[in-house]
Amino acid sequence: MNECWLHGKTVVVTGASGGMGAGIAGTLIKKHGCTVIGVARNEKKMLKFIDELGDSYAKQFSYKLFDVSKKENWENFYQELRDNGVKVDILINNAGILPKFKRFDKYSYEEIDMAMNINFYSSVYSVKTMLPMLLESSTPAVINIDSSAALMTLAGTSMYSASKAALKGFTEALRIEFKDKMYVGLVCPGFTKTDIFRGQTGVNMDSGAKAMDMISTDCDKMVKMIMFGIEHKMPMQVHGFDAHAMSVANRLMPVYGSKLFSAVMRMANVDIFKEVFSD
Ligand SMILES: NC(=O)c1ccc[n+]([C@@H]2O[C@H](COP(=O)([O-])OP(=O)(O)OC[C@H]3O[C@@H](n4cnc5c(N)ncnc54)[C@H](OP(=O)(O)O)[C@@H]3O)[C@@H](O)[C@H]2O)c1
Repeated sequence: MNECWLHGKTVVVTGASGGMGAGIAGTLIKKHGCTVIGVARNEKKMLKFIDELGDSYAKQFSYKLFDVSKKENWENFYQELRDNGVKVDILINNAGILPKFKRFDKYSYEEIDMAMNINFYSSVYSVKTMLPMLLESSTPAVINIDSSAALMTLAGTSMYSASKAALKGFTEALRIEFKDKMYVGLVCPGFTKTDIFRGQTGVNMDSGAKAMDMISTDCDKMVKMIMFGIEHKMPMQVHGFDAHAMSVANRLMPVYGSKLFSAVMRMANVDIFKEVFSD
């Protein structure tokens, strides 16, 4: 049987301290014997991930704590890799935030900047900085973890959708421009059970949990689907029942699709959407 192209590679995974990033990093280490350099801000979460990884795998993991939304952090990181003779084959841009769902006029410029900088510009900076090193690899790759929000916009998600739509456009251009030089993968997961919803403060996650639970995919299951796609170098991945429904509806009904889905969220009385429809 042929060995998977991921075997033994050196991979940078942003947002490796939790959620899908931790799952992806863990699979790369345990299943594919990769060396993973995780990037995130919170050391406590990173150490918890290492603990869960276990002693025998922990030596394949190292981490760097920095805010991915700052260009100079990527430049310093790159220089440090060069100084230490580290060669990275694959970059997985996974770090992201979900701004609180609300109507556009309620967003402060600080919230708008954070969404665009963390969800979009971080990948622009990482790719621009890391590209020379990636292209030295025999199997260079960039995989961007996007969202179903890039496929259809729901009421209350203006800035999240805008940041993820920008990431989609950027990734699709990279895919064509570097088609003979590296694998570029775009991943659009639907709602997934991770800590990303903790930012939705002021709402009782339990009372809307039933509806959210029905449409959300289990994190381990989502990671398995994403890894299958990466293992097979899929150019675009859409995962989760909700993501597929949004993708199809948006193509069939570019205007009424999002109206319909937003109305369903309103009628289902999903807590995280409540503030969006409050006046
Ligand atoms: N969960 C969903 O329903 C869903 C659906 C579609 C797409 N996605 C996308 O999937 C990706 C992973 O999401 P998740 O659900 O796994 O979220 P999560 O559990 O909240 O994990 C997010 C990760 O990103 C890191 N991070 C956030 N901001 C950062 C920054 N400025 N600098 C460095 N690291 C940062 C966090 O680490 P620290 O806190 O340690 O910094 C954490 O490791 C995101 O891009 C998200 O938009 C999620």
